[in-house]
Amino acid sequence: MKLNDEYKVTIESFDMNGLGVCHLDNKVVFVENAMEGEEAIIEITSIHSKYIFSKAKKILKKSPNRILDLEESIKLSGEADLIHVDYETELRIKENKVKNTIKTKSNYKLNSIIKSDNPYNYRNKVMVPFGEIIDEDDIKDVVYGFYAKKSHNIIPIENDILTNDISSKILYVIQRYLVLFNVLIYNEQTNKGIFREVMIRNTVNNDFMVVLVTTVNHDFSRLIEMLLDEFKEIKSIYLNINSKQTNVVLSDDFRLLYGTPTIKENILGLDFEVYPASFMQVNHNQCEKLYKEAFRMAELKPNMNVIDAYCGMGSITLNIAKEVNHVYGIEIVPDAIKNANNNKVINNIPNATFICGACEEEIKKLVNKEKIDLIFFDPPRKGCAKEFLDTVISMKIPKIVYISCGIATAARDIKILEENGYELKEVTPCDLFSKTSHVETVACLSLGVLHQEKK
Ligand SMILES: C[S@@+](CC[C@H](N)C(=O)[O-])C[C@H]1O[C@@H](n2cnc3c(N)ncnc32)[C@H](O)[C@@H]1O
Repeated sequence: MKLNDEYKVTIESFDMNGLGVCHLDNKVVFVENAMEGEEAIIEITSIHSKYIFSKAKKILKKSPNRILDLEESIKLSGEADLIHVDYETELRIKENKVKNTIKTKSNYKLNSIIKSDNPYNYRNKVMVPFGEIIDEDDIKDVVYGFYAKKSHNIIPIENDILTNDISSKILYVIQRYLVLFNVLIYNEQTNKGIFREVMIRNTVNNDFMVVLVTTVNHDFSRLIEMLLDEFKEIKSIYLNINSKQTNVVLSDDFRLLYGTPTIKENILGLDFEVYPASFMQVNHNQCEKLYKEAFRMAELKPNMNVIDAYCGMGSITLNIAKEVNHVYGIEIVPDAIKNANNNKVINNIPNATFICGACEEEIKKLVNKEKIDLIFFDPPRKGCAKEFLDTVISMKIPKIVYISCGIATAARDIKILEENGYELKEVTPCDLFSKTSHVETVACLSLGVLHQEKK
């Protein structure tokens, strides 16, 4: 067997990320864009000692759960790798992913996944790279879209599947401006050019924020006029200057070009101002459902002292403050903490304290301060630092509610906590990233009685 060889196969099952699985030469073969039960012609794309990667070239027998032709799904899979799968099947893939990843000695309850009422057009944030192509008539054109799987080739966006109509229209106006005014598009290989990417964020209040990412300062006054002429929803326009040859899109250099420095979000009845560098969950409706599930697991009580680790702009911290005695939010991004402190004032919440710094360092300062009854973790995909978990374990905090967008790292961290006296009680998956194989989870752990501090 060699690269680019073609085989006719029957897909036996889905893997954890929704890839088709079959066997050839006693090896497991993962197949992109193929579904359980389908017969397909596949092409080998990479060969490893125990497994092989391939892609579907032709579907000979189609699954009844396929909702998009192969050609269309190949085009869109860089943005949405489960775009071809019907929603019920997608939910089953995600529930299995959680079940097969969180395998622990605790006999925990796995709850049904929290479904989305709207699996399309839900994203309130897009990061869109711009590039240049030479068309058949040798004419340069500016394209924007998303990166094809495992590559930096831009697939132009033809219709908006995950984002909203206004963001799509804003992107189109920016593209027209770049062509009309001959702005040099950044080239990753040569590290030359000016215009890199656009970030657009929007909120339930229909406030839009646009961030233009460039390598150098540039006069965008004409573009700003064009955007404001068309979109009354745009409340804030920033320039972000990133001259580095890097995969990290945004630098720390944000310059406000128009409007207000923040846009306003509302989560579970509270108002939140958001800077461009502050984290905000990408699916507003599902975020509210996720938080409600986390609060149910937490069993909040008026005498509790709580830590909200990795708190972002304070959306969990402030939403639970009214139910408990005191809550400490810890977050590493200074702008997010600036938002959090202001959000505390806007919502008139006195019993929350925000701490700026790394959780692994800052939590140590709370060790001997007062007894903590409950801690929320909501780390980035890489999970919690071991040092942070060690401190939580040493504090003997009776209850942990762990929210995660990285199931593998959550499983790793839960295992460490279990080895140190915690018992996993329940896990609820939440479909925050519909049409992609990513899954959010919320898990609840309790410290066993033998490990609890004697009163
Ligand atoms: C998944 S977000 C969760 C934010 C918030 N809980 C929410 O629901 O909007 C993770 C947050 O952790 C922050 N972060 C990353 N590493 C950190 C660290 N070592 N210490 C503290 N915060 C960190 C990020 O800036 C980000 O705001």
